[in-house]
Amino acid sequence: MKLYYSTASPFVRKVLVCAHECGVAGNIELAPTKVLPSEPNRDYARVAPLMKLPALERDDGLVLFDSIVICEYVDSLSRGAHLFPAPGDARWKALRLHALADGILDAAVLARYENNVRPEALRWKTWTDGQLIKVDQSLDFLEKNRADLEGITIGTIGVGCALGYLDFRYADRKWREGRPKLAAWFDEIAKRPSFLATLPKA
Ligand code: BEZ
Repeated sequence: MKLYYSTASPFVRKVLVCAHECGVAGNIELAPTKVLPSEPNRDYARVAPLMKLPALERDDGLVLFDSIVICEYVDSLSRGAHLFPAPGDARWKALRLHALADGILDAAVLARYENNVRPEALRWKTWTDGQLIKVDQSLDFLEKNRADLEGITIGTIGVGCALGYLDFRYADRKWREGRPKLAAWFDEIAKRPSFLATLPKA
């Protein structure tokens, strides 16, 4: 199978962390793909009409998107651990955590585009600040609900990738300050081989 990817995308990273955790990373061929809101990639649109990364092309030609769908597919191939708990409360908690992590990423990535891709004269600071408030409030929620960050699931992997993205693109915002429990939790998950093998690159 072929994963359309970029080394900086935290959504791609989440899929690759899942693939490592499930023992199927070796079955995935990586296809570097350039995606920018200001430069529609028409070749990639033939694969994935939303032109978002990642997309996974299976050997039978079916293309899966977006990242949560690909993660669940990867989990279905797992030779070991399962990252999506069986139906029941554990599953709802993992999916809720994943939704929070993806929300942090959506806001952080939108703010990054606003500050780095949009022409300077068109930037809207109030809007960007609004996105970063979402990030900060979600991090405070995670600090307060540290007990929810248990085990290796699609939820904790999502949070690990979101925090990794903040280190990668927002190191100056120092998200660890005032959040010692979340910082200690991240230090541990970041040591896993799946996280070490997928560190983001510009
Ligand atoms: C980034 O460079 O920050 C980035 C790249 C792809 C998707 C999201 C973010």
